[in-house]
Amino acid sequence: MSMQPKKRVGVLISGRGSNMVSLIEAAKAADYPAEIVVVGSNRPDAKGLDRASDEGFATFALDHKLYGKDREAFDRDLHAKLLEHNVELLVLAGFMRLLTPWFVDQWQGRVINIHPALLPSFPGLHTHERALEEGVRIHGATVHFLTSEMDVGPIIAQGAVPVLDGDNPDELAARVLTVEHEIYPKALAAVASGKATIDGFRVKVEGMKPEGKKIIS
Ligand code: GAR
Repeated sequence: MSMQPKKRVGVLISGRGSNMVSLIEAAKAADYPAEIVVVGSNRPDAKGLDRASDEGFATFALDHKLYGKDREAFDRDLHAKLLEHNVELLVLAGFMRLLTPWFVDQWQGRVINIHPALLPSFPGLHTHERALEEGVRIHGATVHFLTSEMDVGPIIAQGAVPVLDGDNPDELAARVLTVEHEIYPKALAAVASGKATIDGFRVKVEGMKPEGKKIIS
């Protein structure tokens, strides 16, 4: 059986990059269908950039502060950087910046994002605080295809955790992060191998089995 060439992936981060690390680790497997070819950030001081270059990856930083209000100028430079590295699939891993409709259009169907909530609940910021305020008993994370609407897009994978009595936002965030690190490598593999395909508002994922029948909390 001939192996498909690995999809060339760019990862964008804004911070510590723990999701990026989970992708780097997964991509070390010989049969992983994607290879990370570059890691970029809108913040030159993002901790994850050091980690990526320590691991031998090409990195770049485009300081969004230098662009003022011109979002499209930032996005055009970002686009050019990604093309320099022949990126085919783009993965947002804690990238805390909205991309313009122009950019989203260029990359239609080729950008995935992870959000720390079970979308469509809790789009936006401070998801763990808001989940605690609302008293939900199940919380989690979502990997979805990017659209120009923030935290909206066809869902590829979700992972859920219980909310426990007495949780504070940090404890809940840490529990959610463990499922982020599980679902993101799986979701990227499904997209890179062509097993996850967009079908209207839904994603068909071939061969991805739910881990259990019920999640009750
Ligand atoms: C993650 O929890 C990710 O889901 C979230 O930022 C964190 C980044 O952590 N992303 C968003 O909130 C996007 N709106 P990391 O840098 O350790 O991967």
